[in-house]
Amino acid sequence: MKGFFLTLEGLDGSGKTTQARLLAQFLEEKGIKVRLTREPGGGLPGVRDLLLKGEALSPEAEYLLFSADRAEHVRKVIFPALEEGFWVISDRYLDSSLAYQGYGRGLPLSWLLQVAKEVTLGLQPHLTFLLDLPPEEALKRVSTPDRLEKAGLEFFKRVRQGYLELAAREPGRFLVVDATRPVDEVQTTIRESILKLFP
Ligand code: TYD
Repeated sequence: MKGFFLTLEGLDGSGKTTQARLLAQFLEEKGIKVRLTREPGGGLPGVRDLLLKGEALSPEAEYLLFSADRAEHVRKVIFPALEEGFWVISDRYLDSSLAYQGYGRGLPLSWLLQVAKEVTLGLQPHLTFLLDLPPEEALKRVSTPDRLEKAGLEFFKRVRQGYLELAAREPGRFLVVDATRPVDEVQTTIRESILKLFP
């Protein structure tokens, strides 16, 4: 595999989407081929509405829908781009499911990981930026909450804690960034970390 697989994770409102876009711009200016993508919806676009606007689903159904999208995303978008030497930047990936459906909704991580092994073909990001934000701040920043965001503060607290635990378990892959700082400062930190890895 020739490319590089990078993901951005964090609570809703943490600024992932803005940071992903700025990072893609920076890399493209350096002559790197970039494929910017996202979950949910990167593989099966219709899944977004079903998950975020539809009726409340069981956590199991929710996870399997995110997984169906991810299976398509990995096979049709991420792997082909990596094979062609692109840097793939995904706004959310498997860690979102572990944090939201695992820590947030209480599904056993062992089951999530078992399913994920087949779904992702074992593909792990080379690098993951966790944009860390207190849940109170995250909720304040979300203007029109979708169904998952309506789950409220206690849910967000569990998700944040989950993300921090995931990051602590894999310090070689995760970089935790303080997302309460201004957009340009967060972006500078992200760029500097990448330049350290690829001087
Ligand atoms: P996203 O579109 O990234 O929303 P935002 O831009 O507000 O962060 O994600 C939509 C929601 O889907 C978000 O609340 C997180 C949730 N989600 C999961 O619960 N599990 C998953 O596996 C993924 C990919 C997203």
